[in-house]
Amino acid sequence: MNERSNNNLELSSYSNDSGLELRTSNLEPTLRSNVIITIDGPAASGKTIAGRRLASRLGYLFVSSGHYYRALAWAAHHDQIDVSKPTAVQHWLDRLLLHPQIIEDALHLFIDGNDVTPHLNNTIVTSLVSPLAALPAVRNFLLTRLRSLADQRNLVMEGRDIGSVVFPEAPWKIYMDASPEERARRRAKEGIIDNVAQRDQQDKTRAAAPLVIPEGAIVIDTTHLSISDTNQAIDEILEKFQNKNK
Ligand code: DC
Repeated sequence: MNERSNNNLELSSYSNDSGLELRTSNLEPTLRSNVIITIDGPAASGKTIAGRRLASRLGYLFVSSGHYYRALAWAAHHDQIDVSKPTAVQHWLDRLLLHPQIIEDALHLFIDGNDVTPHLNNTIVTSLVSPLAALPAVRNFLLTRLRSLADQRNLVMEGRDIGSVVFPEAPWKIYMDASPEERARRRAKEGIIDNVAQRDQQDKTRAAAPLVIPEGAIVIDTTHLSISDTNQAIDEILEKFQNKNK
């Protein structure tokens, strides 16, 4: 991926630090009085189900921060970057154009003008993403980009360090968990090759922004919850949230 251009993107009405392109159909940007709900937890703990439900009920933008890390893992693989060499990674990041765009209320990620969203669950991406996400240069690169999304929309953002590092001031934080066996079973059922135990170990033990339960988070253990039970647990939080914000 040597050409650093994004000229095949349909440019739209507004962009700012996040690089986020807002089409005219999206909400007008507002300054940072936007509400952030954070959801953290290990792989296959139910964060995406919960996050999508909350976001759609509230009309907020749902953001999977893991998609950002996956997009970089895809690009690093494509560009044959040696992730064991921090200087090479930094030089590569300095030239990388990562560009989010909302299309039909879903966030798509473009790298150098190409929509990489369809590749984010590739097996190679899944195996590379945790070691890449452990690099401070990579985390710094994404931190400002993730934060600045909140300048434009109310957000439900899920990931590993969203309530602890990206938005530690968020008034609503959720931490979702499930047993390692149950999470491996879920991935296998989805037909996805994903060594969740290894990924969790890497995500929890890295020095930079490890996965932790953020202070003040509501913890939900979904080990014995069906999807509809999880939705119900989320709806209870939603009700509290709405009562508090009346
Ligand atoms: O949520 P996910 O499985 O798509 O995330 C992929 C990887 O990205 C995850 O194993 C670790 C990394 N990640 C991270 O380090 N910090 C985040 N906030 C989100 C994801």
